[in-house]
Amino acid sequence: MSLLEIRGLTVTMGVQEILHGVDLDVAERGIVAVLGSNGVGKTTLMRAISGIYKPKAGTIRFKGEDISKLKSHEIVARGLLQAPEGRQIFSSMSVRENLVIGGGAHGLSELERILVLFPKLGERMSQIAGSLSGGEQQMLCIARALMAKPSILLLDEPSLGLAPKFVKGIFDLVSQIRDEGLSILIVEQNAKAALRIADRAAVMESGRIALEGRAVDLAGDPRIVEAYLGGHVHTV
Ligand SMILES: Nc1ncnc2c1ncn2[C@@H]1O[C@H](COP(=O)(O)OP(=O)(O)OP(=O)(O)O)[C@@H](O)[C@H]1O
Ligand SMILES: [Mg+2]
Repeated sequence: MSLLEIRGLTVTMGVQEILHGVDLDVAERGIVAVLGSNGVGKTTLMRAISGIYKPKAGTIRFKGEDISKLKSHEIVARGLLQAPEGRQIFSSMSVRENLVIGGGAHGLSELERILVLFPKLGERMSQIAGSLSGGEQQMLCIARALMAKPSILLLDEPSLGLAPKFVKGIFDLVSQIRDEGLSILIVEQNAKAALRIADRAAVMESGRIALEGRAVDLAGDPRIVEAYLGGHVHTV
């Protein structure tokens, strides 16, 4: 049984159907990358898993339990956390306050462990979060999610808008987090870097999974190379 098992997930927005029966699995300690062009439904998928959008049909099993009808906070409480697209940190609060809020009941005991992974944040604990650089804000967003001790982390475009030196840092960090025992579902435009750290990958096209397989196989698949790795991909 997979840690996260999605079957026939269908999501509508008004009269428009955005996801048309998505099947996807994330194994324990697995990294699954979701690739796809703009507007194919990647963020919608992430939001449906997090309970922000309610599916019209299908199931989302997490640790064997169907979470598709639960509220977002109930899903968070079960250990599924999303670091959202566009980094929603509390910008007028300090780095420390952001982290402690993320930790909830775990609070300070988690902080020390997290700061080992994020030494840069440790140096900036009193700084107002809104004054961090883009890359640092992204780190804070991920660190805050980790404070809640999730068993799976959903990352929606963590490298978006970051300078190359930060991009490498983010992907290294994701690998490191997995090594600590978490599972990760990551949406990325940076297909090359995502396929490098992922075990498995899925390609979305207009609300469906068009292709799924081992990341190494997809990285060598001519269709992927042409569509996602061909010349326009940033190198890390
Ligand atoms: N709240 C909404 N109301 C209406 N349509 C929506 C809503 N959210 C998303 N959509 C539409 O659903 C489709 C999928 O959007 P989504 O944000 O999931 O794409 P995406 O794959 O994450 O794209 P990107 O790579 O640009 O982030 C788009 O056509 C979008 O306009
Ligand atoms: Mg998106």
